Amino acid sequence: MKLIIVKIRESCLTGLILFIWLVSSVFVVNSAIAQQVNRGEYIFRASGGCSCHTVPNSNNQFMAGGRALKTPFGAIYSTNITPDKKTGIGSWTETDFINAMTKGIRNDGAHLFPIFPYTSFTKIKTNDLKDLYAYLKTIKPVPMENKGDELFFLFKWRFGLIFWKLLNFEEGRFEEDSSNSELWNRGAYLSKALAHCSECHTPRDISGGLKNKLLYSGFVNGPEGETAPNITQDPQTGIGDWEKEALIWFLLTGQKPDGDYTGGIMFEVINEGYQYMDAKDLDAITEYIFSLKPIQNEVKKE
Ligand code: HEC
Repeated sequence: MKLIIVKIRESCLTGLILFIWLVSSVFVVNSAIAQQVNRGEYIFRASGGCSCHTVPNSNNQFMAGGRALKTPFGAIYSTNITPDKKTGIGSWTETDFINAMTKGIRNDGAHLFPIFPYTSFTKIKTNDLKDLYAYLKTIKPVPMENKGDELFFLFKWRFGLIFWKLLNFEEGRFEEDSSNSELWNRGAYLSKALAHCSECHTPRDISGGLKNKLLYSGFVNGPEGETAPNITQDPQTGIGDWEKEALIWFLLTGQKPDGDYTGGIMFEVINEGYQYMDAKDLDAITEYIFSLKPIQNEVKKE
């Protein structure tokens, strides 16, 4: 009898231990997923909040695309990147997503237009992309069909983008520069891969490729036809006369040293994205931007 009671006690204890183990492992897995989603949201913000994928002032259509983005080649509509299975990217695997971000290839194999800045995103670290994918999976699915592009007919053929890529795209990872500090390297990674500052702030040639010798020196015909100023250290035509604190403040608030606020698409990337970065990362971006050699380039609309 005593033995039976001991046995029952033992199995109860084993059951209890098993139960606690199960509950705690579910908890550990869940909290690991939650942490990944949080990290992914940070990557999302550091990339400027993917603001092009939302029509400004649209209700309940966060990341559902359909925003006409003006380019010299015609209007291109941003796409639905919500997890809706039919119209968004809900049926994409993590690999499909990573391929789009780093190779500019859609899950059906078609090439993507470089208005989607995969020329920068190709440098994002794989773990950051995985986190970003995990975050995008958690936003509200919005069923909304993608719109066709309004491009000059020659540019409608996506296979032509192969030639564009040969000329202007180099797939690759971000490489650290050991001659610079850790802070500078973090800033270079954030600016080049995630925040993609150069995509808007660099002049482009007639094929629409970035003029690499003039990186960050401004572009009159920036995205949406807006003029993106020269942000190199040139004191006359760039931001060589800004203090470091002024650039950090600008990336947090959109306010310039003269008290004026920035507008248009720069305000969007700050408002939806950069303002959520932590102080150390904003400091890092500033460290990198302030190391850009001065390029004299006046970018004013006639
Ligand atoms: C989506 C395009 C885009 C991206 C990405 C972008 N910018 Fe801008 N930026 C602009 C435009 C356009 C303006 C001009 C806005 C205006 O006229 O008010 C601007 C203005 C600025 C200015 C004000 C300069 C001046 O002289 O008035 C600074 C500084 C700046 N951006 C820095 C950055 C940095 C640093 C990054 C990356 C962390 C960045 N921008 C990313 C488009 C962009």
